Amino acid sequence: MDLTTTGRTLLEQLPPPLPAEHILAINQPKGDLHTTRHYTWNGWTFDVPPGVFVPGGTSRMIHERVLDGRIEVRGRRYAAMGAGLGVEAVAAGLRGAREIHALDVHGASVAAAERHYRRIVGEREGTVFTARAGDLFDALPPGARPDVVTFNPPAVSRPVSEDPDVVRNVCVGAGLLRRFFAQLAERELPAPGGEVFVIASNTADLRAIVGSALDHRFVPHVAHLHDWDDGVLTFLFRFTREGEA
Ligand SMILES: C[S@@+](CC[C@H](N)C(=O)[O-])C[C@H]1O[C@@H](n2cnc3c(N)ncnc32)[C@H](O)[C@@H]1O
Repeated sequence: MDLTTTGRTLLEQLPPPLPAEHILAINQPKGDLHTTRHYTWNGWTFDVPPGVFVPGGTSRMIHERVLDGRIEVRGRRYAAMGAGLGVEAVAAGLRGAREIHALDVHGASVAAAERHYRRIVGEREGTVFTARAGDLFDALPPGARPDVVTFNPPAVSRPVSEDPDVVRNVCVGAGLLRRFFAQLAERELPAPGGEVFVIASNTADLRAIVGSALDHRFVPHVAHLHDWDDGVLTFLFRFTREGEA
């Protein structure tokens, strides 16, 4: 596909969701979600409390880009939507974001994100950090106006488990993204000149996701495409507000 294309032309080129059995086969929950696990990245070890998502390869596509500036947060206001363990918030602190808001609907994830941020980044002149629990942007501090938002959403289109914590982490589906773009539009986010990064694969309904963004006057771009060689294609989308670059 043409990765430079945008708008409805991009939407029409996106692959449809993989067959249900393929999605279920590659998304088998490990069964250890309700235990404490550990995660190591970039020389840091994170304990992962029960119910908190352990970052994977898809997560790292965002974490690495926040840390090295391919997703530029230095000097900017940043919201990590669905922050989970909080690795992207830590990366943003080290990169030198001006504001960091770690947001997640799961209280234990927000607490873990805050703890790891304080431990690894700590107090940093010129950086304000908040971590709040709530549905999507409900917990964003009043008046906060992020320039950059990232979201690795639980967008898988099929229920891969009946465990509500697995669903929250993995497979709420494209409806969550519809609400995400509606809230961004309603709150006039991001700030002018800002960017919204969403990562999702063809285990999700990519056309529904990008369609929701277009309906709310966001312009989609493909920032990165990764082929896992097992039929899964992961897209890192960058959305800008209509009328901006
Ligand atoms: C796939 S995990 C990503 C976690 C982390 N950002 C990463 O990449 O490793 C999805 C996260 O979205 C959160 N989430 C699910 N529904 C949400 C909602 N309605 N509002 C905010 N966060 C939500 C989950 O609790 C989970 O932490």
